Amino acid sequence: MNHYFTNQDLKSEIRVLKYSYGEYNFMFNSDLGVFSKDRIDLGSKTLVEAYFKHGRKNVKVLDVGSGYGFIGLTLAKIMNCQVDLIDVNSRAIHLAKMNSKKNNIKANVFLSDIYSNVKDKYDVIITNPPIKAGKKVYLKILNESFKYLNENGELWFVMRNNHGVKTIYKEMSNVVKTEILLKNKGFYVILAKICWHWSFKLLES
Ligand SMILES: C[S@@+](CC[C@H](N)C(=O)[O-])C[C@H]1O[C@@H](n2cnc3c(N)ncnc32)[C@H](O)[C@@H]1O
Repeated sequence: MNHYFTNQDLKSEIRVLKYSYGEYNFMFNSDLGVFSKDRIDLGSKTLVEAYFKHGRKNVKVLDVGSGYGFIGLTLAKIMNCQVDLIDVNSRAIHLAKMNSKKNNIKANVFLSDIYSNVKDKYDVIITNPPIKAGKKVYLKILNESFKYLNENGELWFVMRNNHGVKTIYKEMSNVVKTEILLKNKGFYVILAKICWHWSFKLLES
């Protein structure tokens, strides 16, 4: 089965998505073959707006599964974060690079299958994980995040309640300090604070 992140043979039909937050205005090029191509995803919007209210400014951030760059680029601009954006979908990477230029935002954007090309460590890993890629992929994104986080690093993610977020939250909070920061129309924003000597392994059911 072809998913938006594997189907690279599609023709191109660029469209422009607008987003505003306070005095900040963004325009994102989107295209066929990427996640939420016609509108900014409500889960991603809920996640970044929770970060704008509760997250740290001026920190180094990795956006895993960046798509066309909405999460990482808005954090770079509004929270003055130094951002790296990764995705397995080369069209998404191309768009994220275009969008960083289009919005005049500095970002390091590169192709990576989960963390395969990630060399650095970060203060924050943020993700709207690819549920459609399957449990193995999205649990690996969460499970292995602590390897790429600095001491006192934070994992931020958003997930729908019907995608098992409550179980993940429960398992995570047995091991690391975890909170539900926000619930919006079925989307949960979760923040896990990873103490350097702790790690976790969420179990596949
Ligand atoms: C739910 S979408 C979120 C996209 C983007 N962050 C947004 O807010 O619009 C998940 C993203 O994960 C990417 N993805 C899927 N499998 C991946 C993998 N193995 N490694 C890295 N990214 C992956 C998809 O291509 C997709 O862009």
